[in-house]
Amino acid sequence: MGSESRANAQQADYWTSSGGRHWVAEQQQFDHMLAAFGAEARRVLAAMPGEHVLDVGCGTATSTIAISQAVGPTGSVVGCDISPTMIDAARVRTAALSNVSFAIADAQTDDLLQAHAFDAVFSRFGVMFFADPSAAFTNIAAAVRPGGRLAFVCWQSEDANPWISMPARVMRSFTPEPVLPPADAPGPFAFADPARIEAILAATPWRGTTITPYRATLEMGGGLGLEPALQQSMGTRAAQGLREQVDDETYARAIDAVRAELAGHLDDSGAVTFPGAVWIVSAVKP
Ligand SMILES: C[S@@+](CC[C@H](N)C(=O)[O-])C[C@H]1O[C@@H](n2cnc3c(N)ncnc32)[C@H](O)[C@@H]1O
Repeated sequence: MGSESRANAQQADYWTSSGGRHWVAEQQQFDHMLAAFGAEARRVLAAMPGEHVLDVGCGTATSTIAISQAVGPTGSVVGCDISPTMIDAARVRTAALSNVSFAIADAQTDDLLQAHAFDAVFSRFGVMFFADPSAAFTNIAAAVRPGGRLAFVCWQSEDANPWISMPARVMRSFTPEPVLPPADAPGPFAFADPARIEAILAATPWRGTTITPYRATLEMGGGLGLEPALQQSMGTRAAQGLREQVDDETYARAIDAVRAELAGHLDDSGAVTFPGAVWIVSAVKP
């Protein structure tokens, strides 16, 4: 099993360094924010007792743990992630679980997964970062038995997700440089266009693709108020990009501007809330 990936070297670097450290530090906030979306994707996956499941881009293993409970002691879950930073945190969280294991691997290129014959593949926001998505889903399919299932959740467009488009818009007003990757580039919004998802999967062994919109209100900063929400916003890739592009004084003004916008999204309970919009994607390997 290799941790190096030439195809996805930039993503591997990001998720092992600043991106991974941010995700691990804010794990509870991300889990609070993403719980409804992950639960809906797991409902569609419908993992059953005794099944063997692959969790792609498993991160700190929140979905891996939930699926391990669904498959029970006669089943198993392998969490695969390109980032040793994420897998280290995942291993700590799951030390007591006997039906969970991990692989530090690039799901696009590493063939270690093919030693398995998984019944199902799952991902919560872990499949939008491949340089060659069709190659990745083909490689993943090779690790799945005939009749095996795929279910994942990914973001709809940036515009449909103001929890990120709002801070990104504010940050763009402080720099002429784009602060998020362009649409279709590896990144959180690479699968915003359902026609693109359809075309990517059509070029793989996966068949019977369904792409269903799902919406839920999400809370930033663990629902704990303005400053935790600001901290989560300013840890994103967009904010990190801005930090590299502007001087200290400009960055401080950008933080104040994002804080002011977030304050407009405080609800009666003191949580910063936004609408969230995702696609729930499923397919079957014939
Ligand atoms: C947005 S995080 C989601 C983490 C986790 N699924 C969750 O919901 O908490 C994306 C994850 O995908 C992983 N990832 C990115 N590219 C990958 C690749 N080529 N192979 C395996 N994992 C990858 C990252 O390291 C990161 O942990």
